[in-house]
Amino acid sequence: MNLYNMRKLQIFFLLIAATHLQAQTDSSKMQWFSDAKLGIFIHWGIYAVDGTSESWAFFNNQVPYSKYMQQIKGFKAEKYNPKEWADLIKESGARYTVITSKHHDGVALWNTKMNDLSIPKMAPAKRDVLTPFVNEIRKNDIKVGIYYSLLDWSHPNYTGFRGDSSRYKIKDDTLRWNKFRQFYQGQINELTLAYHPDLYWFDGDWEHSAAEWQSPLVREKILSANPKAIINGRLQGFGDYETPEQNFPVSKPSNGNWELCLTSNDNWGYRPSDHNFKTPYQIISIFADCISMGGNLLLDIGPKADGTIPEEQVHLLKELGKWTKQNEEAIFGTIAGLPQGHFYGPSTLSKDSTVLYLFVAGTNAQNIYLKGLDNKILSAEILGSNQNLMPQIVGKISWSPVPGLVYFEIPETAKTTYMNVIKITLDKPLKLYRGKGGFN
Ligand code: GLC
Repeated sequence: MNLYNMRKLQIFFLLIAATHLQAQTDSSKMQWFSDAKLGIFIHWGIYAVDGTSESWAFFNNQVPYSKYMQQIKGFKAEKYNPKEWADLIKESGARYTVITSKHHDGVALWNTKMNDLSIPKMAPAKRDVLTPFVNEIRKNDIKVGIYYSLLDWSHPNYTGFRGDSSRYKIKDDTLRWNKFRQFYQGQINELTLAYHPDLYWFDGDWEHSAAEWQSPLVREKILSANPKAIINGRLQGFGDYETPEQNFPVSKPSNGNWELCLTSNDNWGYRPSDHNFKTPYQIISIFADCISMGGNLLLDIGPKADGTIPEEQVHLLKELGKWTKQNEEAIFGTIAGLPQGHFYGPSTLSKDSTVLYLFVAGTNAQNIYLKGLDNKILSAEILGSNQNLMPQIVGKISWSPVPGLVYFEIPETAKTTYMNVIKITLDKPLKLYRGKGGFN
């Protein structure tokens, strides 16, 4: 074989290797996730005792490690009522939930056999607080997501500790790193056997590469035991969807699935000093924007150490629930709406794209309009109000293929606290004109 052919062969094998290194997502297993739209994230851990920031408090030297860990002695969960949690999640309209089984501080909420750092073994709560929640959630037909931090700043065999001090480097002690890998993969295995999660929500992957974590192996082990499981994107390239965090994407982050995880104030866990709660209107408009771009919203709450959920978060979830209930058909089971440029606001479409839903602020009477809609409108109404709207077509030239502008006047009587949804039934699947105007 000459040099040229050898090079070609080399490239061929490299390409094969590269495709095998990408996570292969079976799109059929993603269907429930695409339809689910709303999830509730729960950060519950010992950090709620003093109201410090979850795990980061000692990592960033805001609190000495020993003081941080002392919080475990205050984790009583004496008012914990997992049925109430599940009822509230149901009421919000969420179709899935994700709960922290172990954060970066290494404290497990379930009765892990891999080490002793767990709530059942070390906290006055003295019991597995994860299993009863998972059971209640399943009774409500809500999908179960388990958050698990790959890194573990408390584990003696983990490389990293605080931001300014680490334990060792992998290259200096591969045996020690192997021991840690056995530990963390053993915990994931326990979670698989105990909960058969619908979704594995990993975190903390940034401290090591896919090869160091053995991400392909982790993925393979999960999927061989739990073939329909979805894995979030934090396994160094071996997950099924992207997870932008806090920062709202201006353009669609992915052509596949994605999910924005968002705190309800500025912290993931319970922090009584943080009063910067988002309003229900803000949450609802962010949510509408997510689904408009084909994404999900994973909205976080941080229960207290006694097991109660802060009242501001209860209020948020209840208000969100009223809205999702009224506008259910525009939210769940829909697909991304109009591409940018056709309507100044979020929108969604029925799966066959014959029904268009526009989301507009409900607090004032206003005129809205659509550009480039190359369909006939059969009817238009404000969802949940029995009010029909009459479209007015403006600027249509009879002999030109360019569609006119469609104006709707939303009357004073349609005012509502959060957002209105305008349901527009089209004559056929959505057809858009995206030209430059003029005569063609
Ligand atoms: C970040 C933070 C972590 C939080 C997570 C939620 O990775 O490190 O504390 O749990 O985001 O998405």
